[in-house]
Amino acid sequence: MKKVIKIEGKHKLNGKVKINGAKNATVALIPALVLADEPVVLQGVPNISDVDVLAEILRYLGVEVTITGDEFKIDPTNMENKEVPQGLASKLRASYYFMGSLLGKYREIKMKMPGGCYLGPRPINLHIKGFEFLGAKHAADFDGYHLYADELVGTKINLDFASVGATINIILAATKASGITIIENAAKEPEIIDVCNLLNKMGAKIKGAGTNEITITGVDYLHSCIHEIIPDRIEAGTYLIIAAAAGEEVEIENVIPQHLDSLTSKLVEMGVDLEILEDSIIVRESKDLKAVDIQTQVYPGFATDLQQPMTTLLTQAQGVSKIIDTIYPERFKHTYELNKMGANLTTASNMAIVEAPTPLRASQVEATDLRCGAAMIVAGLIATGVTEIDNIYHIDRGYANIDKTLASLGAKIWREDKAE
Ligand code: EPU
Repeated sequence: MKKVIKIEGKHKLNGKVKINGAKNATVALIPALVLADEPVVLQGVPNISDVDVLAEILRYLGVEVTITGDEFKIDPTNMENKEVPQGLASKLRASYYFMGSLLGKYREIKMKMPGGCYLGPRPINLHIKGFEFLGAKHAADFDGYHLYADELVGTKINLDFASVGATINIILAATKASGITIIENAAKEPEIIDVCNLLNKMGAKIKGAGTNEITITGVDYLHSCIHEIIPDRIEAGTYLIIAAAAGEEVEIENVIPQHLDSLTSKLVEMGVDLEILEDSIIVRESKDLKAVDIQTQVYPGFATDLQQPMTTLLTQAQGVSKIIDTIYPERFKHTYELNKMGANLTTASNMAIVEAPTPLRASQVEATDLRCGAAMIVAGLIATGVTEIDNIYHIDRGYANIDKTLASLGAKIWREDKAE
């Protein structure tokens, strides 16, 4: 038996939502923990299945893990360097962060390909290029990545593209390298700043996180600390979109509004009634939404991860919207699912055109990836009838208790067993 999520649409939402710690920070922070030489505590860890898999990988490596509520404590004292099993590595994208942290700690890693959402090709050539610049070599004996180095030596690395994953992975490998590493054209996402803040609390010497040039001066030892994870800007953005689509008055709490500027300015342009406070945002029922064009960009541009749920909202706006995804040109599987529900979406190369408004009607749809799942939830909440969402394990990888949270706001949403 597998589970599906069912949503009876057209119930207005009211109340408050508290945003969890950021998934895409957490999935890098946990692999970063293995660089520590003493116990470390992370606070605000979201209750998502990606965290369970990362904890399993840590335990496999001999790290003691204690999870109490949203607190995640590790003790690396008895850790060993082993090949991360393929069955675990392939469950999520972020398993690739163990490449940087294990190479940094032990000067050797052996790992097969990471998994994660299929959003078109997701190469890791820039990560490997960074490791090689630091002095790592490939061993030819292994079907996957077997990298080793007698010594990792700081150097200047210019990224061809400001990749989030490559920036973090190079930081992890360089933290215990000798000398100074400079990453030029580094990614500037808030999750990168969070990883550097954790490492600096542990005794690393990293400067420039959040700018396009990051400087890492290698250290030998990393000590204990307690670190609280930043709020999830993508989870917050998803709830803002949900509230704009189906809310009467919804307050999204525990947010850093600046991280959401590119989304909130688009919502205002559409005519959504928003009140932005110091660490929360109130969304009030908004009528006569207007079409807008969106182009995803690296931070602080419009986040590709919000492009999919935003597409659903745009099916309710007046006019024609054009959506371009410059980060993942193939991230448009949600458009086929939305068309099943009555949307009028066409796609071409890296673009979708939304002709709207179109009322949505319930259908059987699939969460083809995590943020497609979010797009389907927004759709289910505004459609007439009962929508059934399949492959919900994608949703559970990134949204903690989304069904319970929405039910607390007045949505009719539940899980049901379904024969395979
Ligand atoms: N790229 C390369 N070579 C590389 C690395 C990236 O060509 O070596 C390309 C990718 O193919 C893609 C673009 O660069 O076209 C962006 O990739 P990036 O490395 O920045 O993304 P990522 O690290 O693989 C993270 C998030 C994604 C999020 C992107 C962009 C995690 C685990 N994943 O992926 O999150 O979309 O940054 O912000 O942090 C999600 O949460 O749903 C998700 C997919």
